[in-house]
Amino acid sequence: MLLTTRLKTATGQLHRAAERHPFVSSMLGGRLSSAQYVRYLQHLLPVYQTLDRLSQEHIAPKLASWSEWDLPRAQAIASDLMHFGHTPAPVDSGATSAYVEQIRASADRYRLGVVAHFYTRYLGDLAGGQMIGRAVASAFDLHDENGVRFYRFAAAQAQHPTMVQIKQELDRLALTATQIDFLEHEAQRSFESSIALFDSI
Ligand code: HEM
Repeated sequence: MLLTTRLKTATGQLHRAAERHPFVSSMLGGRLSSAQYVRYLQHLLPVYQTLDRLSQEHIAPKLASWSEWDLPRAQAIASDLMHFGHTPAPVDSGATSAYVEQIRASADRYRLGVVAHFYTRYLGDLAGGQMIGRAVASAFDLHDENGVRFYRFAAAQAQHPTMVQIKQELDRLALTATQIDFLEHEAQRSFESSIALFDSI
């Protein structure tokens, strides 16, 4: 079975739990205050600073089309925070620190260990993230990309083809069976950490 099929199957149940999380429902229903939304972005910022850096370092060299996808999100999150009137600064959060540590540890385990987090976060942002982005724009009356850059990818018009291409390139990575087992487990943990982050806001 292809790597991304394995990851999708292994995380299906957790994906449903993430989608149905009360925080996510509030975000989709336009019921979050701007202070809550800012807290969410502040929690995500260190997670993406780490994921972006390690993906660039360890995964990008193995993916032919990486530079076309515009995946790193930390700069976009920082820009959204500034739009909401906040200096992009790290928050003191147990859930965020644990997530950051988990991403770092996956790269220490073996260089492509970060693929599990790459899959969970960037593909999530390209898919369900787009629905969240529309809900946030509508809730806070945002009419251009300012405040919602987190959800705007250069390849946004080609969102679905981009997902397909990313999956094809991930599926071509040279990985052993043991490494794929690890990625499956790690992607589940990445979803769990994302859910823990929702819990903590
Ligand atoms: C508002 C909540 C969410 C909705 C409505 C949603 C919806 C979706 C949809 C419709 C897809 C399928 C896209 C496609 O096959 O082209 C998808 C895929 C995905 N989502 Fe979500 N999602 C949500 C939240 C999340 C969260 C919180 C995460 C992780 C933190 C996440 C991670 C993923 C991943 C990794 C995929 C790719 C699955 C695959 O095809 O392998 N999603 N999501």
